[in-house]
Amino acid sequence: MADGGFFGWISMERTFIAIKPDGVQRGLVGEILQRFERRGYKIVALKCVQVSEELAKSHYADLSERPFFPGLVAFITSSPVVAIVLEGKDAVATGRTMIGATNPLSSAPGTIRGDYGIDVGRNIIHGSDSVASAEREIALWFAPSEVIDWQANQAKWIYEKV
Ligand code: RTP
Ligand code: MG
Repeated sequence: MADGGFFGWISMERTFIAIKPDGVQRGLVGEILQRFERRGYKIVALKCVQVSEELAKSHYADLSERPFFPGLVAFITSSPVVAIVLEGKDAVATGRTMIGATNPLSSAPGTIRGDYGIDVGRNIIHGSDSVASAEREIALWFAPSEVIDWQANQAKWIYEKV
């Protein structure tokens, strides 16, 4: 799909996005989803999750030795998260660009963290950092039947070739 044009070598991808407890509590779910939808990314999975300690520790396993890990797990399990899978061309890297730097104070205005966040431990949203991470995270958070294959009728208005 969508293999034409100058950026035609960039593949269609899926990325895992989570609106963290601060984003949900602050009523930013609609605002954030709207940004991805308007850009042209397609929602293929979406649910509200009260995250278990087991899921939090598994999701952030790479950071388990870091001093902030216990606080990160406590935060992610403190209130519901909205878990999302987005699909589209270059979804992983472009998703990260739209999210901004880990520390919101270093995030450019126009990014999600740069527009809504201040503290690194309240940075609103997670996005997969590689295609391999996305595959691992999607499998961790969603059953295969919860991720939907569907064709967007507007795809030909977003991509030169579909
Ligand atoms: P995320 O995984 O949540 O999308 O964030 P990220 O890739 O931008 O950053 P990562 O290094 O994966 O860190 C995961 C989350 O841990 C918290 N953190 N706190 N106090 C600190 O120095 C610190 N560093 C990271 C952040 O909430 C970060 O999103
Ligand atoms: Mg990360």
